Amino acid sequence: MSGKIVMIGSMKGGVSKTVTTFNLAYSLSKLGKKVLAVDFDSQANLSTCLGVENVTAVPVTIGNLMLAQIEEEELPERSEYIQTRNGVDYISSSMVLSAVDAKLRLEMGSEKMLLDILETLRDSYDYILIDTSPSLGALTINAMSAADEVLITVNPQLLAMMGLQDFLKTVKKIKNRINSRLSVAGILLTMCDSRTNLCKVITEEVTETFEGQIKIFESMIPNTVKVGESVYYSEPLVEYAPDSKACVAYNNLAKELIENEG
Ligand SMILES: Nc1ncnc2c1ncn2[C@@H]1O[C@H](COP(=O)(O)OP(=O)(O)OP(=O)(O)O)[C@@H](O)[C@H]1O
Ligand SMILES: [Mg+2]
Repeated sequence: MSGKIVMIGSMKGGVSKTVTTFNLAYSLSKLGKKVLAVDFDSQANLSTCLGVENVTAVPVTIGNLMLAQIEEEELPERSEYIQTRNGVDYISSSMVLSAVDAKLRLEMGSEKMLLDILETLRDSYDYILIDTSPSLGALTINAMSAADEVLITVNPQLLAMMGLQDFLKTVKKIKNRINSRLSVAGILLTMCDSRTNLCKVITEEVTETFEGQIKIFESMIPNTVKVGESVYYSEPLVEYAPDSKACVAYNNLAKELIENEG
C-alpha cells in the first residue's frame, strides 16, 4: 500500500476545508479505505471535530513532529502521535504549529518537512488527508510540497473566483520548483444553497473558466444545518446523518476521488 496524500486547501477562510477533510475521511473509510487525517492548522478545528476536547493535553501534535523534523531529531513512536476515532486515524494540531510557521521562515530548504514526516507513514494508508489553513504561508507551502493532489474547496457565496487564480498559480510554482508529483484533484463546490440561483450561476462560471483544465467534482456539497450539528456533536455525517444530502454528497465525492485514480 502506498497512500495518496491529498491536501484540502483554498485561499479563503470558512469555505468548508475542515468539514470536508473530516467527512471525506469517514466516507473514504466507509468505502474500505484506510485513512489518516492530518490537522495542519493551528486553529485545530479538525482535531475538535474528531473529538479532541483539549488540544493542549495531546502530548505530541503535528507541531511537535514538525519541530523535531526541523531540528533533525528522531520522531517519536507512532503510537505517541497517531490517534484513532472509529476507524479513522488522525494527527492532532495545536498552537505549537504557529511557532513552527515562524520557524520555517527562518530555516533554509525547509519546504519538505511535512513530506518527510508523512513519507514514513504513507505505506500504512490508502489516503492521507491534510487540512490546511487559509493562507499561502510556509505551512501551506509545506502541505503542497507533501501532497500528490490538492482538492480545492470553493464556496459560491463568497466571491468564489477571487483568490482561486492566485491559489492555482502557487500550485503551479510548487509543482515546477519543489514537487513535480503535485496535481489538482479538482474543485469542490461547498455550501451550495439550492434555494438560490447563485450556486448555479457560479458553478457555470467556474466550469466555463476551468473546463478542460481542472476537474470540477460532480458532487457538490449542499448548505445544511446538519453539518453544523454534526460538528457540534463531533460526529461525521456518516454517523450523525447518514441519509442527509450532505452525507450522500461526501460519499459521492469519495467515490469520485477514488475513480480519479483510473
Ligand atoms: N455544507 C455546509 N453547510 C452548512 N454549514 C457548513 C457547511 N460546511 C461548513 N459549514 C460551516 O461553515 C463554517 C466553516 O467551515 P469550516 O470550518 O469547514 O471551514 P474552513 O475552510 O476549514 O475554515 P478555516 O479557513 O477557518 O479553516 C463552520 O461553522 C461549518 O460548520
Ligand atoms: Mg479549517
